[in-house]
Amino acid sequence: MSYTTQEEIKRRKTFAIISHPDAGKTTMTEKLLLYGGAIHMAGSVKSRKAAKHAVSDWMEIEKQRGISVSSSVMQFNYNGYCINILDTPGHQDFSEDTYRTLCAADAAVMLLDGAKGVEAQTIKLFTVCRKRKIPIFTFINKMDRAAKNPFDLLDELEKVLSIRSTPINWPIGTDGDFEGVFQRESNEVLLFDSKTKDHGASMISASSTGIDDDTLATLISPDHLQTLRNDIELLDMAGDEFDIDRILRGELTPVFFGSAITNFGVEPFIKRFLEIAPCPQPHNTSDGSIDPTDPAFTGFVFKIQSNMDPNHRDRMAFVRICSGKYEKNMSVNLMRLGKKITLAQPQQFMAQDRNIVEDAYAGDIIGVFDPGHFRIGDTLISSNRKFTFDPIPVFPPENFARIQPKDSMKRKQFLKGIEQLSEEGAVQLYKQPNIGTETFVAGVVGVLQFDVLEYRLQSEYGVEILRTPLNYRLARWAKSELTDYSFVDMTLTSTSMLVLDRDDEPVVLFESEWAVDWAIDHNKSAKLSFEGIHTKDRNDLV
Ligand code: G4P
Repeated sequence: MSYTTQEEIKRRKTFAIISHPDAGKTTMTEKLLLYGGAIHMAGSVKSRKAAKHAVSDWMEIEKQRGISVSSSVMQFNYNGYCINILDTPGHQDFSEDTYRTLCAADAAVMLLDGAKGVEAQTIKLFTVCRKRKIPIFTFINKMDRAAKNPFDLLDELEKVLSIRSTPINWPIGTDGDFEGVFQRESNEVLLFDSKTKDHGASMISASSTGIDDDTLATLISPDHLQTLRNDIELLDMAGDEFDIDRILRGELTPVFFGSAITNFGVEPFIKRFLEIAPCPQPHNTSDGSIDPTDPAFTGFVFKIQSNMDPNHRDRMAFVRICSGKYEKNMSVNLMRLGKKITLAQPQQFMAQDRNIVEDAYAGDIIGVFDPGHFRIGDTLISSNRKFTFDPIPVFPPENFARIQPKDSMKRKQFLKGIEQLSEEGAVQLYKQPNIGTETFVAGVVGVLQFDVLEYRLQSEYGVEILRTPLNYRLARWAKSELTDYSFVDMTLTSTSMLVLDRDDEPVVLFESEWAVDWAIDHNKSAKLSFEGIHTKDRNDLV
């Protein structure tokens, strides 16, 4: 079937799944791929899952980087839609990568474990989606087991995440005796066959004329029916109505209950989700917003990954297309360098395979060969217009260590390695003013990133490092209202330290919020402030 460019854009749905580890993201992703015909066997995505358990597993996986990389974006067709799922690392220690990936998504599916509700990592990831004002769809998973009371779950969404919700379906039996869900829009009852509890065989649909229909009594147990009737009455009276505008503004989340492992509710979810979720949306730039239908090709780099193929020192930049159409071997202006660049060897990712892209449209992600030109946040434009897309925030690291090469003869490789890995965003690097160029302070969001840094420096650059953990927990960019203020003269406690980031901007590392307040109090004449998230112009980032 051939589509016009407008139709191609309209049929695209680009989203990420966010969740706390173990809520079922891998399982859900796999089920979506199965429905889309992109994979044929359950378990194909699972092989990646080990990555979140232990570094050794991560390394093993990394040896087969082809697999882990090709699944970082998965494109497939379903019911006439072209779906791009942006994968986000399962382990919380890689959450920075997740934050950046969310900048390339038009919507997010927030997956919760029905027995656990909103968990720590959900809150962090939700906050990023909120900042971007993207619509959030909630799938409450693992309903085949005992779960929290559904009203308590909605209450958690409201109290913990401050988002109102509108349930699309409602669970029947959450005490460990799950009978199915009531579809509020169609009055259908989807029955869960607990005996088969098997892939695909577990859902039987039965229609009813409404919650008062007597046929319901023949389908579900009397206790559950009474509870269901009370619940639906309450929801109809006191719950938020389905309001597409509020959903698209990210103020209201549609809630679906289901069980990914048994497939229960996955297909109704994806069908409704695709109807509601937005197609590619306009993106903000320094020169107004860019509509996806704008004929000029525009996009931004949100992820860089080096050495994907250990045999060829290749580096790939992942570009989110914001407008226009990508055509083979097209050249674009790389705004930061003011230079024309040919987008070479572009690749698209179809579930398990990387393919050379012939053409791609707004909403799609392409991976382009990066000879070292790109940085995270770079803007690419095919016309002569000059603007940059809104910056991608740099998240403050929470763990720090001093790093240096074990063998000072390896200084050159060490510098090259940490430079490249920091361009990838795998680590943030700081220098101490007036200290030699061999010692750096490295900052990461999660400690596992340190292990990966160490492993990659050794395997990809042949450098062993010495790593000394530091007690700091917060990095804050220092600003002063005084021009010409000398930051090295700041009064700091002995447990805080001034460092410089890659752009020589002053950053102070602190052990606690208390120490941040102390520093503000003791440097009043400089009118200091300390910013947690660095959002300078994206062209200067990373
Ligand atoms: P993640 O990517 O979010 O970390 O979660 P993942 O899909 O790996 O799922 C975590 C665990 O939860 C897995 O069990 C998985 O089988 C189970 N799970 C996922 N969805 C459901 C569901 O709907 N109901 C139930 N009851 N369990 C679910 P595991 O024991 O850790 O792994 P495995 O041995 O099953 O592979």
